[in-house]
Amino acid sequence: MSKQVTFTLDGEQVTAEAGLTIWEVANGRGLKIPHLCHKPQPGYRPDGNCRACMVEIEGERTLAASCIREPAEGMVVTTNNARATSARKMVMELLVADQPAQDVAHDKSSHLWDMAELNGVSESRFPKLEEGHIPLLDDSHVAMNVNLDACISCGLCVRACREVQVNDVIGMAGRGHNAYPTFDIVLLCGLRRMRAGLPDRRADARHRGGRRAGRGSCRF
Ligand code: SF4
Ligand code: FES
Repeated sequence: MSKQVTFTLDGEQVTAEAGLTIWEVANGRGLKIPHLCHKPQPGYRPDGNCRACMVEIEGERTLAASCIREPAEGMVVTTNNARATSARKMVMELLVADQPAQDVAHDKSSHLWDMAELNGVSESRFPKLEEGHIPLLDDSHVAMNVNLDACISCGLCVRACREVQVNDVIGMAGRGHNAYPTFDIVLLCGLRRMRAGLPDRRADARHRGGRRAGRGSCRF
C-alpha cells in the first residue's frame, strides 16, 4: 500500500497519497486553485515560477506555491483566506498589466484570462509596460509564431518542448523583466531534415559553433 499523509486543507482533515502536491490534492477534491506555469497533464513537471497558485501554510512566514509543495503530516493549509486570495489576485493583476486588454487579446478565451476570471480580475491597477518595451510578434521561422506581447515568461513551453516532446528547441533568452522564449533555429532545421529522411546536421552545426537561438530566417 502506498504511503499516505494526513493534513488539514481549508479546515478539513484530508488523507492523500504521499508525493502528491497540495495543488493536486486540492484539485482532486474539486478546489480550484489558479495555475499558470503548471499544466496538470502527464509528463509536465511543475516549476513553481508564476506564483499564481499560492496558499498559506500555518507557521510559515511566506505563502507557498501549491503546485510544487507537497503536504507534510499534520500541515495546516489554507487556500481560501484573505491573505492567499489577495496575494493571488495581486499576481494576476501584475501579469494582466503587461497584456493586451482582453477585448483586443490575441486569444480572448486563453487560459490566462480564465485564471484572471477565477481571481476576479478583469483589469489591472498597475501601470502598463512602456510602449518601447512591448515585445513584438516572433514569426522569424515557418515553425514558430509567438505573440510575445501575450507571453508571461512562465517557461511552460520550454518544459513542454524539452521534457514532454523531448525536442529541446525552445529556451528562454534575456533575464528578469526582459526574459522571453526563443527558438533554436539549427535544431528546428534538424527536425525538419529528420522528418524529410535527411541526415541531421545539428552535431556539425554545434561543432562549428553554429547553434543559434532566436530571430532570423531559416536558410534550409
Ligand atoms: S510562450 Fe511559453 S513562456 Fe510565454 S506564456 Fe506561453 S508557455 Fe509561458
Ligand atoms: S502554477 Fe504554481 S507557481 Fe505557477
